Amino acid sequence: MNSGKKYRIAVIQGDGTGPEVVREALKALDAVSGTAGFKTEQVKYDLGGERYLRTGEILPESVLAELKTFDAILLGAIGHPDVKPGILEKGLLLELRFKLDQYINLRPVILYPGVDTPLKDKKPEDINFVVVRENTEGLYAGAGGFLRKGTPYEVAVQESINTRMGAERCIRFAFDYCRRRKYRNKLTLCGKTNVLTYAFDLWKRAFDETGTEYPDITTDYAHVDAICMWMVKNPEWFDVIVTDNMFGDIITDLGAMIQGGMGIAAGGNINPRGVSMFEPIGGSAPKYTGMNIINPVAAIAAVQMMLDHLGETEAAARVENAIKKTVANDLKSLSAGHMGYSTTEVGDLVANYITH
Ligand code: IPM
Ligand code: MN
Repeated sequence: MNSGKKYRIAVIQGDGTGPEVVREALKALDAVSGTAGFKTEQVKYDLGGERYLRTGEILPESVLAELKTFDAILLGAIGHPDVKPGILEKGLLLELRFKLDQYINLRPVILYPGVDTPLKDKKPEDINFVVVRENTEGLYAGAGGFLRKGTPYEVAVQESINTRMGAERCIRFAFDYCRRRKYRNKLTLCGKTNVLTYAFDLWKRAFDETGTEYPDITTDYAHVDAICMWMVKNPEWFDVIVTDNMFGDIITDLGAMIQGGMGIAAGGNINPRGVSMFEPIGGSAPKYTGMNIINPVAAIAAVQMMLDHLGETEAAARVENAIKKTVANDLKSLSAGHMGYSTTEVGDLVANYITH
């Protein structure tokens, strides 16, 4: 217990159902801080589609500078149906990841008891791994452009940027994480060395060379297509998977589905020496906005990851246990509208398990 400690948390509720799930996530945070003996100062930032449509601003420099002073950021969701795809994603979400140098996107894929997985015959002991996704480079770096746009001779180039430093710091984080996790002590590199013979040649060399410093960790390599196959067929083979930005994006949606759906999947955008940002990975789900039927568990799981990151491991475990009890004892389903409870009620259930 860290009595007397106070954390400054920036809260970006964002778009769509973001505010509804963030409200329940903060309910859990307040419940656990009461029992764990730390305080939080929560500062809300109005960022997202509404502000953009109202003012044209996406992420003002002054806001970015303020965000750098917090202990952590909690994010609801980014994405607005009236804003062209790419504007908010690149201008806000990716900009935050890049400018705050959150070079890791950490995405646990854990099936809790009582949660349905679409994988026949797979049990919680079979689905328990973590994806470490590189979060600042690759195809996401935005390198490329158009030539002769809008003509029949149009050319579009989108390049994947892979630096030795970027790959290596991600790989090193994954080895360290795997060691701390003390689960199967196995790290799998997910790539495509048979086709992307430059990018993943660099990654594979960085992986093999860094691996010599971790003799206690078994290493493995698989192509991304095979990883997709095995995540469905034999998810029990995985402990920690490290991969680049694009492949990590794709395989973690698959991961979210096998762990029970977007209603429970959370992630952390981590800068180990800076400000990290935690989010449910499901997006803004505009069609459910304001209906109080979206599942807030993923946002609450983001709070759990945030607490873990802040070193409040007991509080994090308390939140995780409350989530486990809620999904095992109470929720009929993890899908919006089918939980058997409203968003608010699910938040109350979790908060109640936290304090009792
Ligand atoms: C995610 C999302 C984002 C990504 C989008 C919204 C830019 O899909 O967090 O996985 O591609 O990283
Ligand atoms: Mn994604």
